[in-house]
Amino acid sequence: MVFEKMEKVSRINTNTALYGVIGHPVAHSMGPLMHNHVFEECGVNGVYLAFDVIDLASAIAGVRSLNIRGLSVTIPHKVAIMEYLDAVDETAERIGAVNTVVQRDGILTGYNTDADGAVSALTAKMDLRNEDVLIVGAGGAARAVGFGVKHRGGRIHITNRTVEKGERLAAELNAEFHPLADIDRLTCRILINTTSVGMAPDIDDIPVPPAMLRPGMCVMDIVYNPVRTRLLKAAEAAGCEIVDGVSMFVNQAAIQFSLWTGKAAPVEAMRRIVYDASRHLSGAR
Ligand code: ATR
Repeated sequence: MVFEKMEKVSRINTNTALYGVIGHPVAHSMGPLMHNHVFEECGVNGVYLAFDVIDLASAIAGVRSLNIRGLSVTIPHKVAIMEYLDAVDETAERIGAVNTVVQRDGILTGYNTDADGAVSALTAKMDLRNEDVLIVGAGGAARAVGFGVKHRGGRIHITNRTVEKGERLAAELNAEFHPLADIDRLTCRILINTTSVGMAPDIDDIPVPPAMLRPGMCVMDIVYNPVRTRLLKAAEAAGCEIVDGVSMFVNQAAIQFSLWTGKAAPVEAMRRIVYDASRHLSGAR
C-alpha cells in the first residue's frame, strides 16, 4: 500500500507538466478525475488541477510565469479570457468563446472544442445535413452548439426564454427564432437543450413541453448532472433517440487532450470514468 502510494508520487517529478481547469465555481468539475486518469493511462507526465479563479488577469499571469501547459476554461471565463491570450484560433474566434488554452513556447493560444464535441456526439447517431435542428437556449453553450450544427449543414431553429437574446443569436446563425410558447407546433427531427434547465438540484424541470417529443426524433441534453435528465427520460418514453450530456463533455475533453499532448484520447475510457463518477454522485444524493 505504502509502496503503491510512493509509486504514484514518484510519477510526479521536475518534468511534470501542469494543466488545469479555471472557472468559478469549479468544485463540481469532473475534469481532474478524468484528465488525471487519462494522463496515467496514456503515459503522459502531467497533472491536472481545479483552480477556482475570480481575478482572471492575475490567474493568466500565473499561467505564464508557472508555465502551465494547458487549461480548460469554464463559466464565467469563456469569453473574458480571449483578451488575455496571444492568439485565438478561427473556430473559437467565430464562436466568440474559448474553452481550451494551450501554452507553447510561452505563447497562449485559445481554442473552442465545445462545438465539435457537441456535434460529434450527435453525428455519431445521425447525419445533420438538411435536418431541422431546434436549439433551446441562447447563451454561450447555444452559440458553440449552433456553430457546430451550422458547420455540419443542419437548418437551425432557436427558442429562448428571453426573446431578444434568442433573436440576436438566430440572426447571427442565419436561423429562425421561435418563441417558447410556439415550439410545440414545430416539427424538428433534432432537439438540443443548451440551457441549465433540469440540472441538479432542479431535476424535475424540463425545458420544452414533453408533448412535442415524437418518435424518430433525436434529443440531446448538454446537462450531465444528472446524466438522465427529465428531458431525456421523456424523450426516451416518447420513442426518441437520446444523446446525453456526458457524450458532449467527454468529446470536448478528448479534443482538448489531443491539443495538449498530440495524442489520440481514449474516449471510451473517459466515458466510463464520467459515467461511474456520475452514478456515484447520484447515489450519494
Ligand atoms: P451558458 O454560457 O452556459 O450557455 P448563459 O449564457 O447564462 O450560460 O445561458 C444560459 C441559457 O439558459 C440562456 O439561454 C438562458 O435563458 P435566458 O437568455 O432567458 O436567460 C437559459 N436558461 C437558464 N435558466 C433558465 C430557466 N430557468 N428557464 C429557461 N431558460 C433558462
